[in-house]
Amino acid sequence: MVRTSRLGSILLAGLVGAGVVALAAAQQANIANGKEKYLEHCASCHGKEGKGDGPDAKDLNPKPRNHTDGNVMNRLRDNYLFTVVKNGGQAVGKSDQMPGWGNILSDQDITDVIAFVRTLAKPPYKPTR
Ligand code: HEC
Repeated sequence: MVRTSRLGSILLAGLVGAGVVALAAAQQANIANGKEKYLEHCASCHGKEGKGDGPDAKDLNPKPRNHTDGNVMNRLRDNYLFTVVKNGGQAVGKSDQMPGWGNILSDQDITDVIAFVRTLAKPPYKPTR
């Protein structure tokens, strides 16, 4: 009984903690969902940490964008990123090796993925609006 209730309170603390993070993120986009989708669909090329060094990157030319490079990424506007992710590299005159995700990810998922990508940038991304 004692063991169970201790486990219960640890679980509860974890849930409350996760809830606070989710709530903060939900104000604009769901970064946790964005991360999940990124690891699922983007990391094979862009790498788990977004450095452009995923397992499939070695065969690609040009290389997948390094999403941690804030000097490049921070200059790209949200609506540009949305177009690339939804419709693929070709939609913005880039490589067709960057696939479009509009058939797989909802617009909300894409917004969430972009919000997650923004967290990777060094120096950090500061929204202009
Ligand atoms: C099959 C490999 C592959 C996958 C999977 C992939 N990408 Fe890419 N991505 C690329 C390549 C290659 C480029 C570079 C295109 C270029 O420079 O012409 C790129 C470029 C980009 C860029 C930068 C565009 C620019 O103008 O600099 C963004 C943003 C991006 N990808 C986001 C994503 C997101 C988000 C996902 C997952 C939903 C994803 N990519 C999945 C290969 C991939």
